Amino acid sequence: MAESAELILDGKSYSLPVIEGTEHEKAFDIGKLRDQTGYVTLDSGYKNTGATKSAITFLDGEEGILRYRGYPIEQLAEKSSFLEVAYLLIYGALPTQAELEDFSHQITKHTLVHEDVRKIFDGFPSAAHPMAILSSLICSLTAFYPESVSPDLSKEEIDLNVIRLMAKMPTIAAWTYKNNMGHPLNYPRNDLDFCSNFLYMMFSFPTEKYEIDSRIVSALNKLLILHADHEQNCSTSTVRLVGSANASLYGSVSAGINALWGPLHGGANQEVLEMLQEIQKDGGDTSKFIAKAKDKNDSFRLMGFGHRVYKNFDPRAKIIKKAADDVLAALGIDDPLLKIAQELEQAALTDQYFIERKLYPNVDFYSGIIYRAIGIPTEMFTVMFALGRLPGWIAQWKEMRENKEPIGRPRQIYTGELERDYVSIENRN
Ligand code: MLT
Repeated sequence: MAESAELILDGKSYSLPVIEGTEHEKAFDIGKLRDQTGYVTLDSGYKNTGATKSAITFLDGEEGILRYRGYPIEQLAEKSSFLEVAYLLIYGALPTQAELEDFSHQITKHTLVHEDVRKIFDGFPSAAHPMAILSSLICSLTAFYPESVSPDLSKEEIDLNVIRLMAKMPTIAAWTYKNNMGHPLNYPRNDLDFCSNFLYMMFSFPTEKYEIDSRIVSALNKLLILHADHEQNCSTSTVRLVGSANASLYGSVSAGINALWGPLHGGANQEVLEMLQEIQKDGGDTSKFIAKAKDKNDSFRLMGFGHRVYKNFDPRAKIIKKAADDVLAALGIDDPLLKIAQELEQAALTDQYFIERKLYPNVDFYSGIIYRAIGIPTEMFTVMFALGRLPGWIAQWKEMRENKEPIGRPRQIYTGELERDYVSIENRN
């Protein structure tokens, strides 16, 4: 591998160090480019720009590979639990039995939120989108734990904030749903595991006992594992950028939640379900909507297809598709939206228009089918994505802090007006 790259600018030669990662990804280090040459690079959307070096997640978009700390997601989805994967992402290794039990116990101890959090709910309009409430309440944890803002937190203090966030996000997410529905809130139960407790808080009523279904718990674990991290995506980059200013973990994750809410990012799973419902309402003719998607004069777009980095099947989509089939079969649910989704997928996989544009189903395409099957309403789908992505955000924020990375401050190329003098208002035309 070349040790450096030569850049020739205005007749002068500059040497750019080349670095190579453990999976043989290569980069030019341009850390000194502007000082040496006066030039900056321009890469709208950072499609070709590495923001950091990270040891957390590796993905290969061409080969459809995704690994957390070296472990393939196919194995983790099949054999692990969400809490074990969260530990792996955050601390870098699979926990021993004792470590996992302690991690789970610590989280259980912190699942309650301050009673004043309930008062914040009252300030929201009843129709508020759950993601607006979630991002606000997660940021409010900075108010309840002001010491979390310090840039000089000890390892123990960071670990406590990590545990608090892992513990309280499910409670806040479930309360967001119950508040939205006008239902009484359910307090967390210390006798239940992470996913069972979330389902209990979401679906239990004082008037009827909620039966924990192991098949649903298994499907939820799998879904959360598959959403747990995805290297430097939009919301994770947001968490890192906000955190690089020494903002608290809670404030940084709250910013990530807002980025994830965008329909081009985590909001896509809600858009996919609404698209399937639109097709169903229109009579279910998928060929009509495939034609609309291909018609450049038609505003209809197929949601849940294509990806910024995967140039073939999103490996998570394959696993989620099978999980959707398994969960609906196990629960005896015949969801017409699944049939519409399968027809769209089949068309996309055989139609040259989609093949040429590498528009394959992504992680958002089937996840909503499963969420619907386990009773989660469409507006909560992106909240579920946020719950899954939480350990990834935490791990990336923690890595950035531990590596003492500098505050993020990209440059620009100015294209505005040249210098001009102020004109008083009476002299403006
Ligand atoms: C994600 O998992 O964050 C999404 O696939 C988006 C991305 O990685 O760019």
